[in-house]
Amino acid sequence: MKQKVYITRKLPDEIVDRMREKYEVRMWEEEEIPVPREVLEKEIEPVDGLFCLLTEKIDQPLLENAKNLKVVANMAVGYNNIDVDEARARGVVVTNTPGVLTETTADLTFALLMATARRIPEASEYLRHGKWETWSPMQLTGQDVHGATLGIIGLGRIGEAVARRAKGFNMNVLYHNRSRHHEAEEALDLQYVEFDELLKESDFVCVLTPLTKETENMIGREQLAKMKKTAILINTARGGIVNEDALYDALKNNEIWAAGLDVFVKEPVSVKHRLLTLPNLVTIPHIGSASIQTRMKMAEVAAMNLMCVLDGEEAPNKIRE
Ligand code: DGY
Repeated sequence: MKQKVYITRKLPDEIVDRMREKYEVRMWEEEEIPVPREVLEKEIEPVDGLFCLLTEKIDQPLLENAKNLKVVANMAVGYNNIDVDEARARGVVVTNTPGVLTETTADLTFALLMATARRIPEASEYLRHGKWETWSPMQLTGQDVHGATLGIIGLGRIGEAVARRAKGFNMNVLYHNRSRHHEAEEALDLQYVEFDELLKESDFVCVLTPLTKETENMIGREQLAKMKKTAILINTARGGIVNEDALYDALKNNEIWAAGLDVFVKEPVSVKHRLLTLPNLVTIPHIGSASIQTRMKMAEVAAMNLMCVLDGEEAPNKIRE
């Protein structure tokens, strides 16, 4: 009898076909609508392998239903949507997709940083709404990126890739991380600093750390108050790392200059969210890894991880925390 796989969102045919050759595959056929929880609860019951996205919460009650489950393959590098301890306790392997999205996410992080610093969305709207009547000295002026100090919180693969880009803009790059990365410091001319120093010294603070119990609300009122009045906060990691109420107040009261967010605590963010009323916030809908090539690679890597486990092999991207 073939092993059973459930895929929680419509994937490109070539990825699904590869799995169909070996397993009995069912898939939620929608692209833009996530699988409802009650559907997932039923679908997971008989399966050996689950291919899921960051939109699905894989928690204890769900895993409880999945008596045959051997692997949860997340199509993302972040896996805060999965209760990894619970999965491990049940002998279920959890995998992610590191590496393949590093450069694409770093590109987007830098694009968001530049768009926020130079007010690109606002300037585009200004033109489209017929407000461009003349050139004037301080019209739509922003902050310089070149030569500024960038503080990276979380020097993983993506952090390093952002640092490399920053060096091309002649930026001074500081970082804070759980552990020091001496090689990267040397190779990229980075400076390790304590968290408070990074907040105080940086013109741009870039959040690139995973969301964990330790990093949740890592940037709150106290931390925002330490930042420069001209500072720009960029978050392309996970929403919960930055406290949204504190950020709203800091932006509203011009305690910091601007923020660029690709991620929110609750996604999709409500269009009524008060952060979206602020002119000094640039937002995009969690598109850090969204290039055609990278999303295809992520799907391939997630499928490969799933297939390895179901075929009794070691998955290359098994979460081992
Ligand atoms: C991830 O992989 O964790 C990103 O947030 C989506 O690509």
